[in-house]
Amino acid sequence: MNVLVVGSGGREHALVWKLKDSPQTDRIYCAPGNAGIAADAECVDIRVDELDRLVEFARTHEIGLTVVGPEAPLCAGLADRFRAAGLTIFGPNAEAAQLEGSKDYAKQFMCRYGIPTAASATFSAFEPAAEYVRENFSAGARGIVIKADGLAAGKGVLVAEDADSAITFLSECFSGAFGDSGRKVLIEECLYGEEASILALTDGETIVPLVSSQDHKRAYDHDAGPNTGGMGAYSPAPVVTPEIMARIDREVLQPFLRGIQAENLLFRGVIFVGIMVTEQGPKVLEFNVRFGDPEIQPVLRRFDGDLLDVMLKTAQGRLREAELVWSDDPAVSVVIASGGYPGAYDKGFPIHGLEEAAATGAVVFHAGTAFKDGTIVNSGGRVLGVSARGKTIREAIANAYRAVDVIHFQDCFCRRDIGAKALARESRD
Ligand code: AMP
Ligand code: GLY
Repeated sequence: MNVLVVGSGGREHALVWKLKDSPQTDRIYCAPGNAGIAADAECVDIRVDELDRLVEFARTHEIGLTVVGPEAPLCAGLADRFRAAGLTIFGPNAEAAQLEGSKDYAKQFMCRYGIPTAASATFSAFEPAAEYVRENFSAGARGIVIKADGLAAGKGVLVAEDADSAITFLSECFSGAFGDSGRKVLIEECLYGEEASILALTDGETIVPLVSSQDHKRAYDHDAGPNTGGMGAYSPAPVVTPEIMARIDREVLQPFLRGIQAENLLFRGVIFVGIMVTEQGPKVLEFNVRFGDPEIQPVLRRFDGDLLDVMLKTAQGRLREAELVWSDDPAVSVVIASGGYPGAYDKGFPIHGLEEAAATGAVVFHAGTAFKDGTIVNSGGRVLGVSARGKTIREAIANAYRAVDVIHFQDCFCRRDIGAKALARESRD
């Protein structure tokens, strides 16, 4: 079977890397891909927002399964178009993709189905929103969370510790800093605890969680600096104990499934639930309708089954028949980023040491890379995801950093503490 992966980041590289090993895979394409993906798939020069061209490509190249990486084309209706054309695709229709595309829609969905989440209020004008913030802080809140309603490429959320910074952010939202996304704003109770990511496959009939993982969202060590798309991840996340996982299944995933059924949402793909493990138990921070990146990198490093078979069955509504096989070995992925990320950065610097890194046994997923004069250069904020397995989380971390340390390009940086929370928890237990 021919397979098409849509996207160009580390997530799509990890998907291609695993899908190409399936015995059923004939040709594997990636649109548009990147310099690293080009070693594992045939890259096609079609952007993720060229929906008609993607449908046309799938039709003319006899694609048996298309897997969509990022959320934007799903929110724009890519899966609807594929299904209307009789093509098999992994990803929800546009209506269901609003679970990520609109935080207000997601919050209302959670409330309707009793899914535990932060209390919140929605505003469409600055003054009442600012007043609500002031009231909360006067009533003794330690923090408050402001979320622009629509897709804002990860920049539309502020966890504010004082009224002034919350109100400054609100005025940015309402003055159009996030385009349409700022016209409606959610103000949420601040939750405290440790975060984890739960990815679960669903075909609308069954929901099957993958192994747990944990992202590192802040740019610098010890969770300092600005929020990013994610600077590294590991799996499993020890904060997700068997007891917490059972609660997530009962209190989040099963009600989620009942919700999409009750509302007739066509959801055949992956739901990514951002969880805060609070003292009262797991609470949902957000839904995404795609795999987390970098979370999917260590998760797929631990997947020992036939990914094409599992994704195809999900896309066909036969998830119940799928077999997921996992390694017990933990895995870690460390992101190497361009200097300046998540702000402005320079591109086009040659990347050294990729072969030496691979020789250590690590797998280097490419996120923002391109070819320039025959060499691989950085072309994005997050550039590489260096992933490794180990018998223990400590060994996986050491293996990942051994490979990280032989890679270099001008101004590159990475966090040195990926996995530290898992180690700390281990030594506490
Ligand atoms: P979101 O895009 O909604 O996941 O928000 C991005 C990040 O903001 C999350 O990963 C959390 O680190 C943080 N965050 C979001 N909502 C809350 C909340 N209610 N309480 C505390 N932190 C939050
Ligand atoms: N790593 C978080 C995300 O993919 O949104």
